[in-house]
This record gives sequence, C-alpha cells and structure tokens, in this order.
Amino acid sequence: MKRTAITDKITYVEPDSMANFSSCAGIIVQSKKKVFIDMNMGPEETPVLLEQEAPDAAIITHYHLDHSIWTRYVNTHSEAIVFIPEKEAPYLTSLDFVIEQTAGPFGMAEKWKDFVVNHLGYRPLEVYECYNEKTCLTDMMPEMVIVETPGHSPSHTSFYFPDEKILFSGDMGLDRFGPWYGWSDCSIKQIVESILRLDGMNVNWVLTSHGGLYKKAIGSAWAAGIQTILQREERILKKLEAGISKQKIIQQGVFFLDKEKTPEPMRSFLNMWDTAMYTHHVSLIHEGGLIKFFPQILGMPKLMPST
Ligand SMILES: [Fe+2]
Repeated sequence: MKRTAITDKITYVEPDSMANFSSCAGIIVQSKKKVFIDMNMGPEETPVLLEQEAPDAAIITHYHLDHSIWTRYVNTHSEAIVFIPEKEAPYLTSLDFVIEQTAGPFGMAEKWKDFVVNHLGYRPLEVYECYNEKTCLTDMMPEMVIVETPGHSPSHTSFYFPDEKILFSGDMGLDRFGPWYGWSDCSIKQIVESILRLDGMNVNWVLTSHGGLYKKAIGSAWAAGIQTILQREERILKKLEAGISKQKIIQQGVFFLDKEKTPEPMRSFLNMWDTAMYTHHVSLIHEGGLIKFFPQILGMPKLMPST
C-alpha cells in the first residue's frame, strides 16, 4: 500500500491493487482518536494494518463491497467501532437484501451471490453503529463534517475537514471513468445534486477512493464528471434516434467498453451494470433529460452542449 501524508493529521492510503472490486483507497485521521475511513486494503493487508494501527473507529462511505468488506475484520483485529450509513444498514446486515437490491432485478442473483460470498467474502455485519449527517463524532473527530452525497448509492457520504479544506469524496466519480450508477438503487439526478453540493464547498484537496487525489482545478474536475454523464446521455439519445436497439447500445457500452474480451462471470456483471446505467439514462431522457433538471450546469467550466 502507499501512504501519502496530506497533513500531520490526515494520511491518504492507496492499496497496491484495486482489481476485481476487492479494495479501495481510504484515509487515516489522527484526531482526538484515530479513525479509518474506507480503509479497504484487501484481505491480506487489512487485518495486519488494523492490528498495527489500532484505530478507534472504522467508517465507510457506502455499502458497495469494495468499500465495506473490510469491516468484517474490524471486530476481530481491533477495538474500533464500525460506523455505517444509517439508510444502508440492511445491505450490510442481510445477504438476501443486498442481493435482491443489486443483482436481483437483472436475473443475476445466483451468479452475483456466489461472487459476493465466495470471492469477496461477504458476511452479514453484526456489530456496528449507524451514522447520518446529524451524527456528532465530537469525542473522536470534532473537526470533521459529514456530508450526505447520495446517488452513487442511496446514502453515499463524503467527509469534509474545513480547517484544512480537505474533502474525502469516496465514489463521487472523480476519476477518468466518471460517475458510476450501475445498480437500480443509484440515481443520476441525486449524483448531480451531490456533485453540485460538493462543488460549492471551499476545498483545496479532494481525496478519492479510486481516482487518486486532486489538488488543483477541482471545479473543472467536478464539471468533467457532470460532462461525462451528459455525454453518455447524448450518445444514447443519438443511438436511439438512429434506431439502434437497447441490446446493441448496451453491448457497445455505456460505462464499460470492450466487454466481450472480459472473462466470465465478470462479463455478465459488466453487462448487468451497463444495463442499469442505460435504464437510468433512458428514464431521465423520458423525463426531459439532464439539462432540463440542471440548467445551471451549462454555466460550469468548459461545460457546453456537444454538437
Ligand atoms: Fe461504490
């Protein structure tokens, strides 16, 4: 893993590999107490790290397994309290619920369940506390602000440190692939609302779960995320107008291109996620499209309708 000291209190930690959705980058905060956020360094390194660092709290931004699976090690390898987003507790405590709410609607429940349990190691979380935007963590981290940023997941949360103007943005889509909304419980409108909320904050550093860290041109990076969503919408619209079928559009790729080269079962998962993203776009197109709901995004840096 790679550690980057952002301040004397905040360390950004990246895993050696993020292959197969088994890990993500997180932060260690040394405040009144030591707190881990999204510190999923994979099944080998996470237990060792928990024992070495002995955190007092372990927080996750959202339920997706690449962010949450490490909480299974927390109670056996440390004394830390696990904090999870309140509205996402059912996903973390019930295998049936998480499968039904994710792969279930796509007829992929069994394949996904096998991957989730046997490859990623999902076990229902038993010992935890819930947080929401009103939760006070003053005995641990009085300087941190909890910012609800739903859309990528129903209760995705970001964490802001106003003294140092540092934002940990989890999976808000600040990476070269752009925002992801590949489950039915995702919402494009909520993602854009959340990006606009974060874009309005006074931030010098953004630390992300999959896209590294951003120090400069943060406004442009948020605008690029929204631009990516808009371009996907425009591409789908053009293809539909050209009479291209849903199946063909998904095969060509909404988020994941070149799916045909990917081995199973991952190819089916990529297809499932692109199906969900396509469906979100088509629903929004039927409602009038992204610009109808967010005309203000046309004023963002370099954001203009493409021709
Ligand atoms: Fe995620």
